[in-house]
Amino acid sequence: MTMTAFVTGASSGFGAAITRRLAADGVRVVASARRADLLAKAAAGHPGTVHPLGLDVRDRAAVEQAIASLPAEFAEIDLLVNNAGLAKGLLPAQDADLDDWDQMLDTNCRGLMYCTRAILPGMVARGRGHVVNVGSVAGTYPYPGGNVYGASKAFVHQFSQNLRSDLHGTGVRVTCVEPGMCGDTEFSTVRFGGDRERARALYAGMRPLGPADIAEAVSWAASLPAHVNVNVIELMPVTQSFAPFQVHRSPPVPS
Ligand SMILES: NC(=O)c1ccc[n+]([C@@H]2O[C@H](COP(=O)([O-])OP(=O)(O)OC[C@H]3O[C@@H](n4cnc5c(N)ncnc54)[C@H](OP(=O)(O)O)[C@@H]3O)[C@@H](O)[C@H]2O)c1
Repeated sequence: MTMTAFVTGASSGFGAAITRRLAADGVRVVASARRADLLAKAAAGHPGTVHPLGLDVRDRAAVEQAIASLPAEFAEIDLLVNNAGLAKGLLPAQDADLDDWDQMLDTNCRGLMYCTRAILPGMVARGRGHVVNVGSVAGTYPYPGGNVYGASKAFVHQFSQNLRSDLHGTGVRVTCVEPGMCGDTEFSTVRFGGDRERARALYAGMRPLGPADIAEAVSWAASLPAHVNVNVIELMPVTQSFAPFQVHRSPPVPS
């Protein structure tokens, strides 16, 4: 039986790689994102297998309408990959732009909720399905300037765990994939407001993960037998690890 997947954020980075990987695995894919032109171009390489869908996940009514009106051969979704997301800015909380915070919450949390809520009832009715949410190590480990981005990914982690509880006995699986630094995507360019040089400098002299590594993790979790649920996959490049806590010291008091 051919599986059908619904991938959000499929116009670049992880989502584009996940779409290509799933199509190569023989899965039919609804590839969604706002930039429909990029999706159409990518789908042209996979006629009949990849269905491009222009969609802003922040638009609740549009999400419901789009999922309710998929072509019949793409309508029964077995695998939802909630990947659309972004970080905007790296300023400390006291200086950050509230519009950036709103956009991160609306996309990373609300958009993921809307897609999940629209697709889950069909999975439950069919007694099978798999929701793969793309979180981040930023949801577990704090870093300066990570404020709302990290908090939104902590939401993704906990929402995934709570879905497991709600879906108990339904046969529907849930996995949260939580990557560290990954290059060859638009992530840092978007975070730095289009500053490609600043984005490039972040990955200088180190080998980050690549989108194909994330696609491999998603493909692996989805390919396991139906009785196996991978709860969380946390992956990082070898070149990234942990540092000690920072300690602020006051200047010595003159005696
Ligand atoms: N790169 C990393 O180091 C890294 C690490 C951990 C986690 N992540 C997470 O991985 C996911 C993918 O990131 P990426 O690195 O592949 O970045 P990316 O290349 O910037 O891709 C982000 C995707 O999300 C889509 N998107 C953004 N806002 C959207 C909206 N409102 N509605 C629908 N689609 C939207 C974008 O497409 P359109 O602009 O066409 O809508 C794009 O396809 C994100 O959730 C990110 O937080 C990334």
